[in-house]
Amino acid sequence: MDNSLKWQRVRFMPNIPLGKDRQYVTGSQEHIDLSRQAAQEGMVLLKNESGILPLLRGQKIAVFGIGQIDYAKGGGGSGFTYTAYSRNIAQGLEIKEKEGKVRLYHPLTFFYREEAAKQLETAQTLGKEIYQGMLSEPEIPKDMIREAASFTDHALLVYSRFSKEGYDRTGDPYDGDFYLSKEEEQLLQEVRKSFRHIIVLLNTGGIMDVSWFQNDPCIEGVLLLWQAGMEGGLAAADLLTGDVNPSGHLCDTFAASFNAYPYASHFSDSPDYVEYTEDVFVGYRYFETFPEAKAQVCYPFGYGLSYTAFEISPKDFSETEQEYVVDISVRNTGDRSGKEVVQLYAESPEGILGGPARILIGFQKTRLLEPKEEERLQIRFNKYQLSRYDDLGKVQKSAYLLEKGTYHFFVGENVRDAVIVAGSLQIEETELVEQLSERCKPRRLRERLTYSGETELLPTDEAAPLPAYEPELCPGEEETPDEVPWKEVKRWKLLSEDRPVQLIDVYEGRIGLDQFLSKLSLEQKISLLGGQPNRGVANTFGFGNIPYFGVPNIMTADGPAGLRIQPEAGVNTTAFPCETLLACTFNEELMSEIGEAVAMEAKENGIGIWLAPAVNIHRNPLCGRNFEYLSEDPLLAGKMAAALVRGLQKQGVSASVKHFACNNKETNRKESDSRVSERALREIYLKAFEICVKEGQCWSIMSAYNLLNGVRCSENRDLLTGILREEWGFTGVTESDWVTHGLHEKEVLAGNNIKMPCGRPNDLLQRVLAGSLSEKELEDAAGNVLKLILKIY
Ligand code: BGC
Repeated sequence: MDNSLKWQRVRFMPNIPLGKDRQYVTGSQEHIDLSRQAAQEGMVLLKNESGILPLLRGQKIAVFGIGQIDYAKGGGGSGFTYTAYSRNIAQGLEIKEKEGKVRLYHPLTFFYREEAAKQLETAQTLGKEIYQGMLSEPEIPKDMIREAASFTDHALLVYSRFSKEGYDRTGDPYDGDFYLSKEEEQLLQEVRKSFRHIIVLLNTGGIMDVSWFQNDPCIEGVLLLWQAGMEGGLAAADLLTGDVNPSGHLCDTFAASFNAYPYASHFSDSPDYVEYTEDVFVGYRYFETFPEAKAQVCYPFGYGLSYTAFEISPKDFSETEQEYVVDISVRNTGDRSGKEVVQLYAESPEGILGGPARILIGFQKTRLLEPKEEERLQIRFNKYQLSRYDDLGKVQKSAYLLEKGTYHFFVGENVRDAVIVAGSLQIEETELVEQLSERCKPRRLRERLTYSGETELLPTDEAAPLPAYEPELCPGEEETPDEVPWKEVKRWKLLSEDRPVQLIDVYEGRIGLDQFLSKLSLEQKISLLGGQPNRGVANTFGFGNIPYFGVPNIMTADGPAGLRIQPEAGVNTTAFPCETLLACTFNEELMSEIGEAVAMEAKENGIGIWLAPAVNIHRNPLCGRNFEYLSEDPLLAGKMAAALVRGLQKQGVSASVKHFACNNKETNRKESDSRVSERALREIYLKAFEICVKEGQCWSIMSAYNLLNGVRCSENRDLLTGILREEWGFTGVTESDWVTHGLHEKEVLAGNNIKMPCGRPNDLLQRVLAGSLSEKELEDAAGNVLKLILKIY
């Protein structure tokens, strides 16, 4: 069989291995090694007093906390990945013990293993759903602590956290989520009493309280593991023992309390809406701008320690017609090899619009530098990145402007320490960078924070109606299409002379797409705008599926922490670390490699579109899906996601960049209205999507469940057509999130091309017959779907 045949894998799912020597790439050692490498690069060393880390060879340690067994490799819901195994912290350290690098106090690990098994059994008996990272911290026998303390004076303390889509986290004291639980707190106190040296490991998908260890002299080392994929336990051990030097840097600000985050306590004001009152002052843009907030930061954005030291020196600042280029030298001045992350920040003049004190405008990660070795890096940026959007017309309405004044550029290894001057730029007169028009304007956002620290009132229109609640139509109900029966698909005959026109004829240039479309019946065109039934190992449905005209049924599968295939299909895939960890690698090349690896797994399994990356902004630490998202910073999120998309699409597998847009809260996610100014929308919340379109050339985008300024995202023409296509030039496919509350015809009219996981073909047909939806609109959407299918391997 010829593997190069177009759509052979998506149509027949032949399950032929794609690796070297006909080995499977899915869940292969090579991919698992890549997952481990990513985990090593994205874990962040937060604290390392008196050089407690890396551990000395043969160091005796006592490991506390049920998290060492109950390790969460990722979060739950569609972001979960089924794997052959997941290596927890205890197992990772046991491997190092065999290599003579550490000595463990075993009775503790036995105790936690037994305890975890007991808790799981009880949960099972009670029929309680339980995931990794959810077990409670047991009380530990006092004599066991005493005995452990006579074995060693080094304790390791592991805390794990779990979250999943559909729910938000909690930020109340002692809840065991943002804050430690009572039991965790108690364990900490016990350990503090008996051990001189304490190292903490945090296995979490989102921000947690860090104030309890930042200034505690007893806690000398802290490693933020995040949810690090299937080899996270081993990757953590690699870093603890110094086999690998940490090089992860924070993609979010870690502040002293939950309430220190901008408008944090308003996150749960209402299940029906969220007011983005902090406006563009999200994450470090808030903390670095306002002095009282600045004092609340424990670990700033971009922060991360290494076992070696680096010297960063800017060498040149130059200007070309299109962009500015900063040339930087990085030298390893310590005595271990390591990688450094260089970050470039801009400080803009206050101007009339005002803005955050600092914004990230570029970054680069070095290769592994040996002691004394130097690398020269170039970071590029342009005026568009420095400009601000004037949504109220204070200078020029609906325009991106470069305000006059002096712009200063700083490099360094985190937002706070970036004090090395890389250059400056004098703008004599305010420049128009891009004139746009008003889109998605807020109607119910009453005020927003400004640069001066005051809030400014915004024009509102409370009378603007909110969309009615539309009933859900779940897959399996009346309109889920059936797979076309065999008898109607004379597959082999289609290849003979008397075949009707086929989509492959378009691919091979025999006819144009318009001509092909003209052969399809109205019903067939409509069917392209709704999801199609699962085939093979897929569980999230497909699209396409007109066998008579050779249109394959292209299957989707979830992400973003690997390819998600249900266990009953009998395929184990590779679980990569959660996206938040990946963002902390600051390594675009690594992202592309992961994209390519997932693409190969998708291809091997006949999947054509991976429902990832997810690029929503970490607006508030409690969003239950933050683990699936990259960062509080849109440039970092956008660049890293675009790199992933490029790797993926290089192999002919489509990304589905999600959730467009402002899906930053999970409670009542299908009916919650995100109320946000047009400026914050453009400068913060849409930016990562824009980068994925313009730099990643992504083929597909998934619209979000929630409402944006009173309009459902899937029915939002300003968003899906105005901004996405008319402004950014997107030519791909937009699909809805799964089972939205939107009406199918409204979604089509807004520019949402496919309703997933199934459409409402009868409704669309009625609309066309009634004249409220034109065939042209249907054809445009169907054409986009076919164009996407033509790009798939
Ligand atoms: C999630 C999406 C996911 C889809 C398919 C939805 O619930 O919001 O992110 O891709 O399900 O599983």
